[in-house]
Parts: sequence; C-alpha cells; structure tokens
Amino acid sequence: MSIRSAALASFVACSGAIALAAASTLSTALAQQPAPTPMDLKAPSEFESIGDRTARSQALFTELGKVLTHPRCMNCHPAGASPTQNDDRHPHMPPVFREDADAGTIGTTCAGCHSSENFAVSGASTYKSVPGHARWGFAPLSMAWQGRSLGDICRQLKDKDRNGGRDLAMLQEHIAKDDLVAWGWKPGPGRVPAPGNQETAGKLAQAWIDTGAACPEFAPEIRPQ
Ligand code: HEC
Ligand code: HEC
Repeated sequence: MSIRSAALASFVACSGAIALAAASTLSTALAQQPAPTPMDLKAPSEFESIGDRTARSQALFTELGKVLTHPRCMNCHPAGASPTQNDDRHPHMPPVFREDADAGTIGTTCAGCHSSENFAVSGASTYKSVPGHARWGFAPLSMAWQGRSLGDICRQLKDKDRNGGRDLAMLQEHIAKDDLVAWGWKPGPGRVPAPGNQETAGKLAQAWIDTGAACPEFAPEIRPQ
C-alpha cells in the first residue's frame, strides 16, 4: 500500500470510529437525558482587581445581568402582552394575555395551569414539566425587561417608582431571598437553571450596591430577546 492510500485507509477507519462514537454518545444522551448545564456566575471577589470603584460597580452589575437577562427570568418580565417560553423565548403557548389574566378571565389565569409546584409531564410532549409556584404571574409592566439594554434594566431596577417601591436594600433582599426568584434555579425538568446560584446573585447585588450601584453605560453584550 502506498503511503497515501494507507493514510486514506486510516482516515476512513478513523472517521468511521468517530461516527460510531458520536452515534453511541447521542443515544446515551437521549437515554439518560442529562440535566442541562447552567452558566457560571462569578463571585464578587473576582472583581476586586478593578481599581476604579464605578467601573467595578458596572462590572458587578454586568455579571448579575447574566442572571437578570437569562430566559428563566426574562420570560416572566415581558414588555408585551404575553409571557414567553423556553430558551428561545417564543411566545407562550397556549396564548395568554396580561389583560385577561389581570381581569381573571377563566382559562387564562396563570394558576389555571401553573400550580404551586413544578409539575413533571411524562409521555410525548415538547416540554418535560409545567413550571409552578404559589405566586406564579407576570411581572408588572413597570418591571418589564425584555428588549431593554442592561443599562436601562439597571436604571429601572433602582427606580422606586418602577420597582415596586423598593430601596436598594429591599431590592438586594428580593434578589437574594425571594422564593419566586428562587424558582429560576430550580425550574423543573427540561429547563436550564439561571446561572450560578441565588446566593451568589445576592452577593453580586450587595457588592454592586456597596460600590455605588453604578449602571453599565451601554449594553456590554447583545442577547436575543
Ligand atoms: C392553558 C394553560 C396555561 C396558562 C393559562 C398559563 N400557562 Fe404558562 N405555561 C403553560 C405550559 C404548559 C408551560 C410549559 C411549556 C413549555 O415549557 O414549553 C408554560 C410555561 C410558562 C413560562 C415559561 C417558563 C420558562 O422559563 O420556560 C412562563 C414564563 C409562563 N408559562 C408564564 C405564564 C403566565 C404569566 C401566565 C398567566 C398570565 C400563564 N403562564 C398561564 C401553560 C399555561
Ligand atoms: C413566574 C414569573 C416570574 C419569574 C420566573 C421571575 N419573576 Fe421577577 N417578578 C415577577 C413578579 C410577579 C414581580 C413583581 C412582584 C413584586 O413586586 O413583589 C417580579 C419582580 C421582580 C423584581 C423586583 C424589581 C423589579 O424592578 O423588577 C426583581 C429584582 C425580580 N423580579 C428578579 C427576578 C429574577 C432575578 C428572576 C430570575 C432568577 C425572576 N425575577 C424571575 C415574576 C417573575
């Protein structure tokens, strides 16, 4: 065999093995359905090297922004008439509207389908669970985040006229302790949890406040919304 055909033969053998390995990985993955991997979230200590206090504050908020702009949070903080679903943030199916839910129209209130806990769904379905929480519902329009830059989200979060009358300490407490916010890290089968954990998010919010609660001046990263 010439060197060339030997190389070719080994290439063919090799790619065959890769294809087999890929196929078996895929079927194992499908069989085991591993839990989706959440994104990392840096601790405030990782920002200590930023000397400028305002720049550090902005960087801390930008890190917290990984949580705020995550689909687990964004889907419930829509700027429009309906919530969104999943990581691609498609419109809620079946369609539900803010106005109907507020008016309590039968079949459209959130509690009609979302119970007090995540509800696992078996069998053929496009989703593996229906999310649940005792206070499942839309964030009010003044707290809408979808389609806004991180800087705008930051400014409205600090604004008592728009954030439900919270001062910075209450805002931090909400992020660190609220049990509906906590749902973002235990969203039920089939959903990727929010980045990191709630404790780290609370610490980032506190460190951001301690450094003057500065807002990023421009969106550091454009995410699909
Ligand atoms: C007729 C049943 C029904 C009603 C009413 C309903 N939902 Fe849902 N909702 C579902 C189902 C089922 C899912 C899961 C679908 C999926 O993940 O693909 C879901 C998922 C969601 C999600 C996605 C969570 C995520 O991160 O993927 C949000 C947000 C949501 N609903 C908000 C609401 C709100 C707010 C209301 C009330 C205004 C409401 N829903 C009313 C059935 C309903
Ligand atoms: C089921 C829908 C839902 C989900 C999911 C959700 N929120 Fe909210 N959020 C709300 C509602 C409703 C309010 C208003 C309640 C209140 O003011 O106490 C709110 C208010 C807030 C506020 C108050 C201040 C403001 O201006 O928005 C913060 C901060 C917040 N949410 C953070 C989060 C974070 C972080 C996540 C994801 C880890 C999240 N939320 C996920 C529904 C949701």
